[in-house]
Amino acid sequence: AGTAPAAAEAPATQGTADDVDALEVLRALVAERAELPADLVDPDSRLLDDLHMSSITVGQIVNQAASRLGIAAAQVPTNFATATLAELAEALDTLISTGGAAPEPETPVIAGAAPWARPFAVDLDEVTRPYGVTDGADGAWELFGSAGHPYAERLRSALAAARLGSGVLAVLAKDCPRKEIEKVLAAAKSALAGDRARRFVLVQDGRGAAGLAKTLHLEAPHLRTTVVHTPQSEDVVERVVAEVAATTRFAEVHYDRAGARRVPTLRALPVKPERTDAPLDDTDVMLVTGGGKGISAECALAVAQKTGAALAVLGRSDPAQDTELAENLDRMRDSGVRVHYARADVTVAEQVTAAVTELTEALGPITGLLHGAGLNQPGALTALTGQDFDRTFGPKVDGLRTVLDAVGPERLKLLVSFGSIIGRAGLRGEAHYATANEWLADLTEDVARTHPNIRARCMEWSVWSGVGMGEKLSVVESLSREGIVPVSPDQGVAILLRLIEDPDAPVVTVISGRTEGIDTVRRDLPALPMLRFTGDPLVRYHGVELVTEVELNAGTDPYLADHLLDGNLLLPAVIGMEAMTQVASAVTGRTGTAPVIEGAKFLRPIVVPPNGSTRIRIAATVTDTDTVDVAIHAEDTGFVAEHFRARLIFGGTPAPDGPPLQVPEDTPVVPLDPAVDLYGGVLFQGARFQRLRRFHRAAARHVDAEVAVQQQPEGWFAGFLPGELLLADPGMRDALMHGNQVCVPDATLLPSGVERIHTLGSGSHVPDQLRYTAVERSRDGDTYVYDIAVRNADGTVVERWEGLTLHAVRKTDGSGPWVAPLLGPYLERSLEDVVGSRVAVAVEPHG
Ligand SMILES: NC(=O)c1ccc[n+]([C@@H]2O[C@H](COP(=O)([O-])OP(=O)(O)OC[C@H]3O[C@@H](n4cnc5c(N)ncnc54)[C@H](OP(=O)(O)O)[C@@H]3O)[C@@H](O)[C@H]2O)c1
Repeated sequence: AGTAPAAAEAPATQGTADDVDALEVLRALVAERAELPADLVDPDSRLLDDLHMSSITVGQIVNQAASRLGIAAAQVPTNFATATLAELAEALDTLISTGGAAPEPETPVIAGAAPWARPFAVDLDEVTRPYGVTDGADGAWELFGSAGHPYAERLRSALAAARLGSGVLAVLAKDCPRKEIEKVLAAAKSALAGDRARRFVLVQDGRGAAGLAKTLHLEAPHLRTTVVHTPQSEDVVERVVAEVAATTRFAEVHYDRAGARRVPTLRALPVKPERTDAPLDDTDVMLVTGGGKGISAECALAVAQKTGAALAVLGRSDPAQDTELAENLDRMRDSGVRVHYARADVTVAEQVTAAVTELTEALGPITGLLHGAGLNQPGALTALTGQDFDRTFGPKVDGLRTVLDAVGPERLKLLVSFGSIIGRAGLRGEAHYATANEWLADLTEDVARTHPNIRARCMEWSVWSGVGMGEKLSVVESLSREGIVPVSPDQGVAILLRLIEDPDAPVVTVISGRTEGIDTVRRDLPALPMLRFTGDPLVRYHGVELVTEVELNAGTDPYLADHLLDGNLLLPAVIGMEAMTQVASAVTGRTGTAPVIEGAKFLRPIVVPPNGSTRIRIAATVTDTDTVDVAIHAEDTGFVAEHFRARLIFGGTPAPDGPPLQVPEDTPVVPLDPAVDLYGGVLFQGARFQRLRRFHRAAARHVDAEVAVQQQPEGWFAGFLPGELLLADPGMRDALMHGNQVCVPDATLLPSGVERIHTLGSGSHVPDQLRYTAVERSRDGDTYVYDIAVRNADGTVVERWEGLTLHAVRKTDGSGPWVAPLLGPYLERSLEDVVGSRVAVAVEPHG
């Protein structure tokens, strides 16, 4: 029978519900596998019991059928092993009629293990300049910038003489006035209008127009763009020329007075702060500009509920005319928050002063400020004017200054300003908005510097889903397609609270989910450890998320040949655990501690065709301090459905002592030779996994056995692949599962999940032999649950499994031949099934 995975035979969306019948598709596939004519396959037959197929094979048939019927892989049920063919067909038909047959997305997003959004610090990392290359071409350089700039003209001539091709240079004076941005706008327009091979260079010191330059690069990626933040110095011209020569696509660098070269680098903050305190309490009043609507309203309400502070809400709209505003104000009042709304335009000082007076009279002195007022009217660079910049800067930058003046910063304990990731990275159509957000961050940092008593936070949000201007501009979906995963309101609010309660959080943070494809910001990406399963990262946010892809075949992964069931090479669960541990360690950067694995689920087998290969993706997401969720997807199901999943907790406690206990020392050894009586017959595991050595007990519900351990595991992967394992010997670990087969000797047991494993990590402490005890905790039909302790020679528990669920996938008819120690458990279980109560059976060999 053919064993190629479903996806290799039929593309993920082939055919539709209208032209094929689920039962006929299933019958044809079963007939092919069972080598029977299709009309002999009875719709009432059970695949497992009547046709003696393993649940692995049934799983493949169902995947193939789903694929032919156009059902999305993730929707396919997994609990089908005991169903009849007709029941399965009905389940598939229901999926089709309820929309399960929706086509897979055209460019599927790479599945992660858990949704996330995180705050990132913007660190200035010292980075050496890459080697520069000159084009060898002389060039003409156009200059735009602040009049009378001390070195702009010198720089232009140096660039022209440096054989770097031609380009447009914009040079701004230190902390330039806003009007000067229009010169950079003119420079950008000139760059857009000219030769495609030109370069664009912006030099600034302090405030400037980096956001505009980044947007230019995103709107016209052919323009090689260099942004240099530098004070004036003797060698400034050489420095900038060298940076331009070193720019292959885009570069942004900062120089300090001493000449150190730094690159802004996003680095994830921990999920939870090291310490927290309350920035406000119920005696405080927080003024919230733009607080009646959008994301500011959600955030203001959360702060008020968490701290007890009153909300002084300010905006231009009239609640009588604006339902979003009216409903939000009602929501705030209904949740018990003291709230007062005053109308004012933040760009008009008199209105702001009057509103602050009104709000203070109503609620008390203002001690906190959340500045959320902002305007975003996208426009391509070619069409933008100075007025567009003025309109965008008005509420965001001038507005903050006006409100700070009216409130008096000396009274404030907390200042939160809402910036945007667009200010850090640029975005097509957002040059003005990007630059305004860059200035807002700068202003917030200024306040933090000049008023150290204020806890100042500029939160540079990525787009939110569900509420706010991203939704109003209808960009959430198109950005998602490009790989920008929006921040949900729950995530956004939680992160805002985390940042204001953390006294050590940086003033400026970028807050986002995945932001794939943005190459105008550098991310902190330390080298990945050289491990088998960390090879090829598809998605990477260090400290947050890592998705790797690995190809598996019998050559790269020789252990597969020792894990052959019904003609299928199965990825062993123990290798799945190692893979998850490797990727989880790599995403956190942790080394040296073995994790506790919780809630492991082996939902679908990972099948490798014996003469082919398959790919798997291992996705890890850090979900809490020391906690990583991991999921493994496989090519078979289009990388959409989860095959394995677990939560890994690092830095946990060692394996606890306690039962199941070993049999007393004087108990005779069970006369069962695993090499002869188990392997090759009852147990399908090949040489590498054959670790059971001796049984001290082999009963229907108890096992006590010795297992051989590779102290330094080797040979698990092909020689050209990294061989290191983080968990101790997988062969030993596999025996902890398959050794329990002595309790159910008439079936093949495969794991479907484990509640918790305190794992033994690899290292010199690993002995060459361990002893394990297992006890059956419960049984439900074909599902058996065990608790396991693994001890070293001193009797110390070195690994512990709680709630291992094993599932019988293939049963014999019990006719034997039997060796005496296995017949006991078999008879005991069979008798119990007949008499309905516990029975003890001892089998004595005759004579
Ligand atoms: N939503 C997002 O995905 C996102 C992402 C990144 C950054 N941000 C930033 O977060 C802030 C809030 O955004 P949002 O999405 O909640 O926007 P929004 O739904 O458009 O709300 C903007 C708010 O600002 C107020 N406002 C605008 N101009 C004002 C002015 N001149 N005077 C007083 N109030 C003014 C508006 O109230 P009136 O109309 O009543 O004046 C409105 O309440 C903005 O600064 C935005 O740039 C948002």
